[in-house]
Amino acid sequence: MLESVLFESSRLGERQKCEARGMSPQASSSSSSSSEDFLPTSLRSGALRCTSENTARRSIPLLGFPLAARGQEKVPGMGTTDEGAVTRDKCIRMDLKAMEENYRQRNRTCFILGSSGETGKVLLKEIVERNIFSKITLIGRRQLTFEDKAYENLVQKVVDFEKLEEYAEAFQGHDVGYCCLGTTKAKAGAEGFFRVDHDYVLKSAELAKAGGCSHFHLESSKGADKTSSFLYLKTKGQVEAEIGDLGFERFSVYRPAVLLVDRQESRPAEWMARTFLGAFSSVFPTAMSIPITSVARAMLVNTLQDGEQKVEILENKAIYNLGNIGDKK
Ligand SMILES: NC(=O)c1ccc[n+]([C@@H]2O[C@H](COP(=O)([O-])OP(=O)(O)OC[C@H]3O[C@@H](n4cnc5c(N)ncnc54)[C@H](OP(=O)(O)O)[C@@H]3O)[C@@H](O)[C@H]2O)c1
Repeated sequence: MLESVLFESSRLGERQKCEARGMSPQASSSSSSSSEDFLPTSLRSGALRCTSENTARRSIPLLGFPLAARGQEKVPGMGTTDEGAVTRDKCIRMDLKAMEENYRQRNRTCFILGSSGETGKVLLKEIVERNIFSKITLIGRRQLTFEDKAYENLVQKVVDFEKLEEYAEAFQGHDVGYCCLGTTKAKAGAEGFFRVDHDYVLKSAELAKAGGCSHFHLESSKGADKTSSFLYLKTKGQVEAEIGDLGFERFSVYRPAVLLVDRQESRPAEWMARTFLGAFSSVFPTAMSIPITSVARAMLVNTLQDGEQKVEILENKAIYNLGNIGDKK
């Protein structure tokens, strides 16, 4: 099934129209073979095809992270300009099933940190349902139980995050790593928050890199900024930058706004924000919040794509757009 997706460019101020089968004659003629030449080889067959009146005319890559090609945006603390993190505001059309099959054949393995959390749970469900990895390892501080048979082949590694270096083996042999780990200052205190959201996350990334992981996904936060005077945003920005320096073949940072989810755990402030934002988001879906399902789906879809930048940052709107590709199978 082909899904049409419209990505709007907030920075370029242009609206790119994505059409494939049934595209207008004008768009069709502007979609020259030269634009297809930029498609990753694996995707040139038409499984994943994208045309844009603007991008095609300029022969700019239509997949991957085209802003780098359009004008190299440097994000502070995220390495060199060449590796510069970019936001995702592109126009693509994709056949998720074909992408999944393509990816499945690569026989890749992954681990998930934080799979017991709200985002992690949804991400795990997406990954299991789509069956794109030959092995899935959950790394966490406790053993999880699942009733669904689909989860029976999961590998679980219970680790002590205070002594992570003693658990290096848990991080070995995974191609892809997802990190949805995190706590709050209210729950863990300022020091505890930093330990989890910075120390545990960074150490995990280091062990993953040493263990052969090539693509690391980090769920960070909207507003992450290592120069911020707010502990939360500063910590998120700092860990982003430090993981960026580890030199993963590919590092994908997701910066969601407030997560819309019916959280099991009671977090009154979050509940109030969600109650307000839930209504607000039906009018302005990406202004201040994002459904948690969109974040998980964006991580999944982004995995299936061949990245063209070493480091990429997906801001809330880009996550939302990517996360709305493909309905349930
Ligand atoms: N909530 C929001 O609105 C929001 C918005 C933007 C970004 N984010 C960020 O997105 C990420 C995921 O958020 P979420 O709400 O999905 O997370 P969550 O539901 O709070 O889950 C957090 C995960 O981290 C683990 N964890 C927490 N403290 C730990 C500790 N001391 N040691 C080991 N593991 C620990 C939890 O394991 P246990 O199940 O064992 O506790 C759980 O798997 C976080 O980094 C968060 O800062 C959140």
